[in-house]
Amino acid sequence: MKQEDIDRIAASLAELKCKTQKEVEEARVRLLGKKGEITALFEEFRNIDRSQKAQFGKILNELKQKAQARIDELRAGASSEASKEGPQLDLTMPGDPMELGSRHPVSIVRQEIVDIFRKFGYDVAEGPEIEDDYHVFEALNFPPNHPARDMQDTFFVSAGHLNPLLLRTHTSSVQVRTMERMPVPIRVICPGRVFRNEAISARAHCIFHQVEGLYIDENVTFADLKQAILLFAREMFGPDTEIRMRPSYFPFTEPSAEVDVSCNICHGKGCNICKGTGWLEILGCGMVDPNVLEASGIDSKRYSGFAFGMGLERIAMLKWRVNDLRHYFENDMRFLRQFAAAPEV
Ligand code: DAH
Repeated sequence: MKQEDIDRIAASLAELKCKTQKEVEEARVRLLGKKGEITALFEEFRNIDRSQKAQFGKILNELKQKAQARIDELRAGASSEASKEGPQLDLTMPGDPMELGSRHPVSIVRQEIVDIFRKFGYDVAEGPEIEDDYHVFEALNFPPNHPARDMQDTFFVSAGHLNPLLLRTHTSSVQVRTMERMPVPIRVICPGRVFRNEAISARAHCIFHQVEGLYIDENVTFADLKQAILLFAREMFGPDTEIRMRPSYFPFTEPSAEVDVSCNICHGKGCNICKGTGWLEILGCGMVDPNVLEASGIDSKRYSGFAFGMGLERIAMLKWRVNDLRHYFENDMRFLRQFAAAPEV
């Protein structure tokens, strides 16, 4: 074993230059590979005189470490093969397809309803989802402990004081906010999300959407209400649609009614969607109770008005014959894709 062989290799390390990863690998094999120069020195080391082993062992190990460190250094600095020979990017390959989303059926129906009422001269009004008891109940003629509050199982945000915060159970609260804010005449529709503490099933959900309507002016009558609903129903469900009104009860309207439209599937003959009746319930409505007008500072002797409220999921179910409310909230692509180009039924 010659010291000068070791020195020569050590000196060559400093001068070693590699441009590419391939060259680095070649240098590694030349020095440290199975038949490499340093590996050969280790072979030689096995046969040298014992007296020399202590001296050369240390030097050889240092050389090997230096060589490895230099290779690592070169590897980090060398450019990859790809950039030496140009990018290995195939520019002729087709790109990843960009999937277009589609509108949610509830959004489609909301937009349709908004468009229909815009044509009738209604503005859109919105209000907060976290509301106070006053705007959801009190101002709408639900006194404390009124049994009608049980119709709407409420999620409370804060409880225990006079006007607790809660998640609105209906968009009728936006009626109140509009009456407080806007001068008469008022013509608005109020789309929005509502919350009720209901067990989730095919027919009920704890989150759903409503559109509320409100019209207040001098001499507004039940006939105006009937005409507005009839025109809406025909725009929404087709020109042959008939409506019927059944007496009902809501604390904020008097008189109140529930509205059915003629079944657009069996055209009145009776099918399993309309349960053989030929009619489908679509909304609640009525003449705004004078107490409600007065609570928001509107003179009930001079003005009258009507209001109505409907569930968007229900309208969408009737329109597209969706049989389970849960579909709307599960974001299953197989369901949502069907509305990419929503068919008219
Ligand atoms: N707020 C009612 C509900 O959630 C729906 C409703 C019925 C709204 C009659 C109205 C109305 O404005 O007049 O069940």
